[in-house]
Amino acid sequence: EHVYQPYRTGYHFQPRKNWMNDPNGPFFYKGWYHFFYQYNRNAAVWGNITWGHAVSTDLVHWRTLHTALKGDDWYDVKGVWSGSAAFLPNGTPVLYYTGWSNASQQTQAMAVPEDPSDPLLKEWDKAPQNPIALTPPGYNSSQFRDPTTPWMGADGEWKMLVGAVVGEDQLTGTALLYTSKDLFNWKFTGKSLQSIHGTGMWECPDFYPVDLHQKKGLETSVMGPHVKHVLKVSLDLKKHDYYSVGTYDAKTDSYTADNNKLDTGLGLRYDYGKFYASKTFFDQNKGRRILWGWANESSSVADDVAKGWSSVQCLPRHIWLDPEATTNLVQWPIEEVDALRMNKMTKEGITLEKGAMVDLMRKGTQLDIEVEFAMPESSEGKAQSPELLAENGHLQCSDLVAGKKMAHGFGPFGLHVLATEDLAERTSIFFYLYNDGKGGDWKTLFCGDHSMSSLQTDVDKTTYGSYVTIHKSDTSLSVRVLVDHSTVESFAQGGRTVFTSRVYPEKAIGGAAKVYLFNNGSESVTVKSVSSWDMASINIKFWSGAP
Ligand code: FRU
Repeated sequence: EHVYQPYRTGYHFQPRKNWMNDPNGPFFYKGWYHFFYQYNRNAAVWGNITWGHAVSTDLVHWRTLHTALKGDDWYDVKGVWSGSAAFLPNGTPVLYYTGWSNASQQTQAMAVPEDPSDPLLKEWDKAPQNPIALTPPGYNSSQFRDPTTPWMGADGEWKMLVGAVVGEDQLTGTALLYTSKDLFNWKFTGKSLQSIHGTGMWECPDFYPVDLHQKKGLETSVMGPHVKHVLKVSLDLKKHDYYSVGTYDAKTDSYTADNNKLDTGLGLRYDYGKFYASKTFFDQNKGRRILWGWANESSSVADDVAKGWSSVQCLPRHIWLDPEATTNLVQWPIEEVDALRMNKMTKEGITLEKGAMVDLMRKGTQLDIEVEFAMPESSEGKAQSPELLAENGHLQCSDLVAGKKMAHGFGPFGLHVLATEDLAERTSIFFYLYNDGKGGDWKTLFCGDHSMSSLQTDVDKTTYGSYVTIHKSDTSLSVRVLVDHSTVESFAQGGRTVFTSRVYPEKAIGGAAKVYLFNNGSESVTVKSVSSWDMASINIKFWSGAP
């Protein structure tokens, strides 16, 4: 406990110590949010995986409870892996998970609360039906995992997906479809909801409805003409979460993505930084769908061991279909996070000339910052960087890293956070606009430059970035950046494009961490407004017993 700990977060969920990975089975029950996570109780590296358990009444302030599920039967003795939660028709929650068996095979299993009248649901019993599924003949028993939240099909039976990979080359990712009449006895249908060659193992599938017109969330079984469906998978080969928006045909239990051409055939990413094995749940308390994702470290295993912990959970995000363009989702930190804001400062109408840098006079490592830039006017006659119009132009975010070169045109402009006064350390979040000079719409890149984020050399400083969708009606370009020591979450344009950074400044810590607005483009840019806040610590209450 006496180790120097500048990288522990102040308002993100973290266990007291040791290794954490995927978020598992969140749900709301009797006034409490329940959150589970892949947890090694013994070390800061992956292994001996159990389900850690934490509860909260506001999704922000947490207390951890003792381990909810651990491996103690032949089908899960080597590990209790990722899964989801559901409610029985009588309202009692149940947990579905993958067991790693004594023979190192992946099995599916479930657990029920010992006492459903206990709102904290401290004790869980493995169901007598376990294992509820073994690898079907012909499938790989070491690539069969992560059951989804079941939904009610058109035929009145429950459906559930399990991630897998098929084909001679073991490169066709797939989501195997199971059915059940009672949520306890499951059988394989012999079918998949979708399969895509070349994508590899599909970890942690998530399948849910979204409303075409409203921000409100839908319970997982809702279908109808006002509904689209989202399929998300975590690609083991790429270590990123990809999703598509599409149509679920309930008669045939098949799913077709609206746009099969994008990227991996799965389309978009929730987050273009560190964000993996995510999971959504329908929050019936507030009628919204919430997304949880895991951000692992960008530092070395030796660093993890030295600091005694590894990984954080990103802030829970409210997620809905973009009403302006039903091709992508929008994500925003749940409104409860705003309650942590303190000491607001606002400035309006700042012009950032070419090469400008403006000190926001805000110091610290727990911050929330929102900036609104005016949208540049017509692009006519202002062709810039046409090479960026090419497919995968966003990969050039790495060539554009802020400050490395003075670009011609609009951008890079944005924010340096966790920055020392001499800028020897800084994490830069910026926009870069480009166009064909024919009066067409601006194309906008949203990037994170981590190349100067730390004086340390053995940390991953990859640049992140992607395009942001800009609609005709948009008059501003906006960004919200949540800084929490080693974790920075950046949301562009109200949450249309998002990335999460893990950074390890050595000097830009505590009061030495500053915030600057900058413009390294040749055109000047107007900041319509910039607001910033200090963020309060959540002081997680850790369960004090032995694990
Ligand atoms: C994803 C994952 C899951 C698995 C779990 C094991 O990060 O590999 O597929 O269930 O982690 O901890």
